Amino acid sequence: MFYGRENEKKQILDILKEKSTHIHFIYGPINSGKTNLIANVLENLPKEMLPFYTNLRGCDIRSIDDFLNIFFSIDTKSKFENSKEYLKEICKGGLDVLKNFQEIPVPTKIFDLMFKSQDKGSDAFKYLESFFRILVQEKKLQPVFIIDELQMMKAIVNSKGNPLIDRFFNFLVRLTKETHLCHCIVISSDSLFIEQIYGNARLEGRTEYTLIDDLDKESAFDTYEKFGFPEKEKVWNIIGGKLGDMVLLRSKLIKGYDIEKSLEMMLTGQISRLKMIDARLFRKNKEMWQQNRDFLFDVGNKGTIDFNPLEMYDQLAFWVNNNVLFLDPVADKIKPQSHLIYNGIKSLIDKFKQ
Ligand SMILES: Nc1ncnc2c1ncn2[C@@H]1O[C@H](COP(=O)(O)OP(=O)(O)OP(=O)(O)O)[C@@H](O)[C@H]1O
Ligand SMILES: [Mg+2]
Repeated sequence: MFYGRENEKKQILDILKEKSTHIHFIYGPINSGKTNLIANVLENLPKEMLPFYTNLRGCDIRSIDDFLNIFFSIDTKSKFENSKEYLKEICKGGLDVLKNFQEIPVPTKIFDLMFKSQDKGSDAFKYLESFFRILVQEKKLQPVFIIDELQMMKAIVNSKGNPLIDRFFNFLVRLTKETHLCHCIVISSDSLFIEQIYGNARLEGRTEYTLIDDLDKESAFDTYEKFGFPEKEKVWNIIGGKLGDMVLLRSKLIKGYDIEKSLEMMLTGQISRLKMIDARLFRKNKEMWQQNRDFLFDVGNKGTIDFNPLEMYDQLAFWVNNNVLFLDPVADKIKPQSHLIYNGIKSLIDKFKQ
């Protein structure tokens, strides 16, 4: 089931209808519904658009080889050794054949050559570009290239120690701003990663950002209705507009717990998680623990604070990495990842005061 998000869907579709000029980053707090939103958009794309969606979450990417393996599916039946001839051949197939590709097809021999090459990334990117170009020129199709959870590849470097991600961004700039061959959408819930990209001078003017946040009160109430939640005000006070938490609440109700008990269990679970993170740090480093706790409580007291990297980067990184705080680098604000977490922090503050 997929509810609402009409404005966001329209926003993304409107972008796709225009000429491709920027890399589009979709970011937002965890479990806000980014992946489901894009999946829904892709299901309803105009017929001339051809999506290639890859989710790197759960992929074990330790090297360029792992990364390439994810994007390509090897066509073992094909004997082609020349990529242009192969791609032309593919295009002779009907649209249905093309629309069945989840990954980018490549014959074994060409794939082997890419892997043996000194400059694996480059060869693979060239092949991808040729593939998209032929779809545009021969088939009059508009490819849409989507990579979800791109931060999974941030640590990969090539044999010379150069980060693959920089090369990959250059490639996306080529596909968008330079050649307008295809739309490129990158999705991530890692706000520190988005912050690095946002601050990357070489990407300045080449990127666009769309925040997919938790729902506002009106949209949340509509969605509560669809989920069949009673006592909407009570639900709002505990979980707010977080879709992931709505799904969790629904499963508790299905198990037979009443709304009161379900919300209480969710909040208690969150408080216990926060206490464990806090206690682990206390055992590890008391000085850091005090600073991080003060910082968290400051966010808890204020709800949202301005981002001041000079003063607070380490504390922020700690809480972001523990999925407690969210940084919106575009708005320059820090807030809890969810309303439930916000309630958990407030409850810790109260307990601490006693
Ligand atoms: N519009 C929607 N209607 C109903 N349920 C939704 C909707 N969007 C998301 N969900 C549900 O909320 C949960 C979180 O959604 P999703 O995985 O898309 O979030 P996400 O932002 O991609 O999360 P992450 O930050 O972990 O990548 C899922 O269980 C999903 O089924
Ligand atoms: Mg996701």
